[in-house]
Amino acid sequence: MKNIWQSLEKHYDSVKSRSILGLFGDAGRAADFSVRHGAALFDFSKTNLDAEGLSLLLDLAEAAGVSEKREAMFSGAAINETEGRAVLHTALRNMDGSLTVGGRDVLPDVRATYARMQAFATDLRAGCIKGQGGKITDVVNIGIGGSDLGPYMAYIALSPFADGPRCHFVSNVDGAHIADCLRGLNPETTLVIVASKTFTTIETMTNAQTAKDWMGRVVAEPAAQFVALSTSAEKTAAFGIAPERVFGFEDWVGGRYSMWGPIGLSLMLAIGPDGFADFLAGAADMDAHFRTAAPAQNLPILLALIGIWHNQVCGYTTRAVLPYEQRLSRLPAYLQQLEMESNGKRVSMDGAELEIHSGPVVWGEPGTNGQHAFYQLIHQGTRVVPCEFMVMRKGHEPDLAHQHLLLVANCLAQAEALMRGRSLEEARAIMAAKGLTGAELDRQARHRVFPGNRPSTVLAFDQLTPFVLGQIVALYEHRVFVEGVILGINSFDQWGVELGKELAVALQPILEGREPADQKDGSTRQLVAYLTDNT
Ligand code: F6P
Repeated sequence: MKNIWQSLEKHYDSVKSRSILGLFGDAGRAADFSVRHGAALFDFSKTNLDAEGLSLLLDLAEAAGVSEKREAMFSGAAINETEGRAVLHTALRNMDGSLTVGGRDVLPDVRATYARMQAFATDLRAGCIKGQGGKITDVVNIGIGGSDLGPYMAYIALSPFADGPRCHFVSNVDGAHIADCLRGLNPETTLVIVASKTFTTIETMTNAQTAKDWMGRVVAEPAAQFVALSTSAEKTAAFGIAPERVFGFEDWVGGRYSMWGPIGLSLMLAIGPDGFADFLAGAADMDAHFRTAAPAQNLPILLALIGIWHNQVCGYTTRAVLPYEQRLSRLPAYLQQLEMESNGKRVSMDGAELEIHSGPVVWGEPGTNGQHAFYQLIHQGTRVVPCEFMVMRKGHEPDLAHQHLLLVANCLAQAEALMRGRSLEEARAIMAAKGLTGAELDRQARHRVFPGNRPSTVLAFDQLTPFVLGQIVALYEHRVFVEGVILGINSFDQWGVELGKELAVALQPILEGREPADQKDGSTRQLVAYLTDNT
């Protein structure tokens, strides 16, 4: 692979100063550097990639063994080597047939749990599952990371389809989060979902206990209004949740890949089992595309290769995800965990230090809000930020179609502005038309120059439905997988979160005054003293 990386670097060197806009001299550019899948269109023509660059990137994917590793993942091989686990979130959205893991067909259990979730959601939505107050009006999902970001993001994204109980999401150990959430709720009509794969996460278990105490002050049988989503039947039982209220899953579903199964229960309660089935169908559709489409037409592979081109080859260290869709407001946060927890590693699968950089910093906000905040830096800052725009052909507000067109116009305008820029001559002409002359004209014009030639891609879909959201999330999951394979890392562990957790546990008795801080560094000691001084 080393020679392909070198060829890519050489190729980049030879093209880096050319104009992306100039590439459109080729009338076929837009069509050639776009891919359609169903109603979706992915346009990556506003990047500095050409046929040679793309072909080298495709060689890289082949040399890294993307197709073999993809099949190993789908077939249940233990590709999460540092934890000795299979990676089978895809099995949660394609439950047909059989799938052997560790000598056992795992799909009957998946199907049984899914059927239990459907029955529970149907009964609760029909009012047959009640709280002490005779009904359930509100659901509080307590979880963090993958047990929060996915369902929360999807609940907001699919609000036009939500006709079930109101859902609320509590994640932060900061008591303000749960206090603000519970303040507006009636314990007699609230269902609490404790979502934690491990059922040990300190934030979730602390908030779950707070919720239990809150409910216990009013409700005679609080456990009857609790549900657990976890891999640990033992721990959910110890917390006092009856087995029939526990929806389990296996350790081959990674936390940040878990919204397709029990962790998605809040979403299923909100949009109903049929809507949830559409969400799974969208993901299964993307799975099939990923497995069967030729690499040059394969959306996850192309997204990954463009990511590699921008990050590892061009050296752009961050990537902005900019959905022009207000209801995808939590998508950037969701993708931060998916991409950065998966590919923010420093050693390859065999433990050797990486010779190339790992995944980029991922960030973003919905447009048009970001335009009035950080786009200044994207357009005129000294660093290049590749932008991934996302936009829908239709909104869900037919009466506000004119606003949707304004949204679309802004999305396309930003991508165009990033590529086109504005030269000094153009800026000078604008300032001259305003009556400026001499040195002042020159000075003012320089502030109005846009370097342009900044790459972006646009992912366009028909409308944000459960099916399309399923496609989007699965697309990004597989993109992360392909990037991880090319970088040679394990995208499915997250050892980097452990040290901070251990130190937090050790700091607790120090903050409580039960242990001295003298083993800590001077800064930590100073901060402990400051933060525990209540005088
Ligand atoms: O600390 C990181 C992490 O383990 C994530 O990977 C995970 O999504 C999150 O914590 C929550 O974990 P759990 O679902 O086990 O509570």
